[in-house]
Amino acid sequence: MPAPGCESLEALRDLIGDCHRCGLGLTRGQLVFGVGDPRARVMFIGEAPGKNEDLRGEPFVGAAGRFLDELLSHAELEREQVYIANVLKCRPPGNRDPEAIEIETCTPFLREQIRIIAPDVLVTLGNFATRFVLKTTVGITQLRGTVQQAGRFTVLPIFHPAAAIYDRSKRDVLIADFELLKKLLEELDSGQNPPQGELF
Ligand code: URA
Repeated sequence: MPAPGCESLEALRDLIGDCHRCGLGLTRGQLVFGVGDPRARVMFIGEAPGKNEDLRGEPFVGAAGRFLDELLSHAELEREQVYIANVLKCRPPGNRDPEAIEIETCTPFLREQIRIIAPDVLVTLGNFATRFVLKTTVGITQLRGTVQQAGRFTVLPIFHPAAAIYDRSKRDVLIADFELLKKLLEELDSGQNPPQGELF
C-alpha cells in the first residue's frame, strides 16, 4: 500500500476512519491509534492493543502499561513527553500474534505516524515492532540494548514490558535499557551521535 502522505496526526486519524481494511475490524472493540506528544523525541512501538487498550482506546493502559510508566522514570521521561503506538491498531482476538496480512495492511499508517512525529529515537518493544522497524529476522534477545539505525532514526530495540511480567529476570534488563535510553538522549543532545540518512 502506498504511504498515505498526511500533514498531521489528526488528518491521518481521519484517513484511517472506521477501519475494516483487515479482519480485525470485525472483532475489535475500538481502534487504538496512539497517544502522546506529537512532537515527542522518543516514540515507543508495541505489538498490538490488548483487552484493556481495546476497551479504553489507548495503548499500554493495562499491566504492561503500568510497568512501562515505571520504566519511563529510569530514562527521566514522563508518559506525556513521549508518543506510544503499536504495530497493529486493533486487538487480535484473544491477544494472538499479529498475522502477516494484518501487519502489511496496518503498518503503512504506523510508518506515516513515525514520519509525522519524526522522533529522534524509536524504541521498539519486542519482536514484532523490532522486525517491522529494522526489517530483520534477528530476535529481540540478541538485539535488545543495542543502538541501531533505520534511515534517519536511531532505534533502540528492547524487550516487551509484558515479557517481564511473566519472567521477572527481564525486569532488570529493561531497567538497564531505559538507563541506556537516557544516555542515548544525552548523547544526541550533545551531537555525539548525529542522525544519518533521510528516510525510514
Ligand atoms: N501490549 C502492546 O504491545 N501494546 C499495547 O498497547 C498493550 C499491550
